[in-house]
This record gives sequence, structure tokens and C-alpha cells, in this order.
Amino acid sequence: MTHGQAYAQELLPSASQLAIANAATLGLREYFTGLIAERRTTLGDDVLSGWIRTWDELEPDRDAADETLYYLAMFIVIAALETTSTVLSSMIWTLDQHPDQLALLRRNPDLVSQAVEEALRYDPPVHVTTRAAGEDMELRGVPISRDQLIHIMIASANHDPARNEDPGTFDLRRQGGRLTHLAFGGGIHYCIGAGLARLEANLLLDRVVRRFPTLRVSAPPEWEPRVAFRRVRALHVVDR
Ligand code: HEM
Repeated sequence: MTHGQAYAQELLPSASQLAIANAATLGLREYFTGLIAERRTTLGDDVLSGWIRTWDELEPDRDAADETLYYLAMFIVIAALETTSTVLSSMIWTLDQHPDQLALLRRNPDLVSQAVEEALRYDPPVHVTTRAAGEDMELRGVPISRDQLIHIMIASANHDPARNEDPGTFDLRRQGGRLTHLAFGGGIHYCIGAGLARLEANLLLDRVVRRFPTLRVSAPPEWEPRVAFRRVRALHVVDR
């Protein structure tokens, strides 16, 4: 259901994509509302029970607390799942497209964390994020009025030659690591799960590189037609 809901976050969703997103949102609402009600019967040591305790202290209106809990649970699950589930496939695809870099990584598995950062820079799982202007302003000569929406093209920023020399080159030895990209956004809304996502991506890539020394991609990935939350539907590989 999260795959369908993610269409609601697209830049220019089609009517049929929005219909898919609507149906998915209703399904997720039903699921999380039921889960919250079930947890309320016996609070445990799990994350959702912790949130229920916190919100019950903050919000005397039980329905309002449950509404917030629903949004929180749904948002975290989508933000966590629709990103990390793509990152391994897109890293493997990018490496496969650059055999010299893949060979370098296989000779030096210690470069895994640099490979993760460079893959996040080169082809980030989230290509665009959005902000609303809090006041009238001018940004690099462009007037922006209060409440206007601004779509920030993360992938494009990651390829800014003023920030990264020769940005079209996929280079594991690029200096700067995590400072070279905005894959996790920036400022007050910086991705809350960046640490966990990096841990997962590093572990996955490390295991794949060490365990499957002859792994190759056998067909180009099948991409979901999405820009905001990119998604690889399938990536076929062989190991021989
Ligand atoms: C490779 C994996 C991930 C990528 C590329 C990613 C990317 C992003 C981006 C671009 C933003 C928007 C930042 C901004 O607007 O400045 C964001 C926000 C967020 N992410 Fe992630 N994310 C990933 C994994 C996760 C995980 C694993 C979690 C949760 C466990 C998570 C939870 C969140 C939340 C809650 C926000 C909203 C933060 C806020 O608005 O204050 N993300 N992420």
C-alpha cells in the first residue's frame, strides 16, 4: 500500500495515479487506526505504544491524539520504506554501470561507506522535496511570495558543478563523502532516519560485495514512473 500512497507525493501525478494513492491512503488509514486501537488495549514496549503514552500526555482529546498518531505512523513507515527499499537496487545498478568502480570496490571493501555516499549523490532515492515560503523573499534573483511552493530538485543539486567537480562522473574516491550531497535534505527537516538508512545501506552493500564477488546485473532495472520517491520495481542479477 505504501507503493501506491507515494504517488500522492509526486510532482505531477496523473488522475489514475491519484486514484491509486487515494485507495492506498484509505487502506493505510484502516490498518493504522486498527493497530492504534489494538495497542491501546494493552500498551507494550514497542514504538507505537511509546507514542501513544506521549500523545496521551500532550493531548487530552483522545480522538485528536489518535489522529496525530495515525499520521505519524503512516508518515514514518512511508518515509522509511519507500526510500531504503530502493537504495540497494539502485546502488547495485549504478556500480554495475561503472565496472571500473565496481572492481575498485571489490578490491577494497573498505570503500563501502564512500560507495554508499557517492551512490546517494549520483542517483538519490528521493529526487525532489518541497518547501512553502514563510515570507516574501528573493532567492538568487527569483522573487518568491509567501506561501508559494518551492520544489527543490535534490538530484540536480547533487550534480551542481560548483559543489562537485565533474559531477557526471561516478567516483568512489570523491572527497567530501556525505558533504557532497543533499540526499537526506537539509535544515530543520533533515531526514530523521539518515543514520538508520546509512547503517542499512552500508551493511547491505558490504555483504553483497563480499558474498557475491561475481554478481552482475542481467537486465536494466524496471523503474516505477515516479520522481519524488524513486522506486525500482525489479532488478535482475546473475552470479557466475
Ligand atoms: C536512503 C534512505 C532515505 C532517504 C534517501 C531519505 C530522504 C529523505 C529526504 C530527502 C527527506 C526530506 C528532507 C528535507 O525536506 O529537507 C527526508 C525526511 C524524512 N525522513 Fe528520510 N530518507 C531515508 C530514510 C528514512 C528512514 C529509514 C526513516 C525513518 C526511520 C526516515 C524518516 C524521515 C522522516 C520522518 C522525515 C521528515 C523529517 C521532517 O520533516 O522533519 N527516512 N528523508
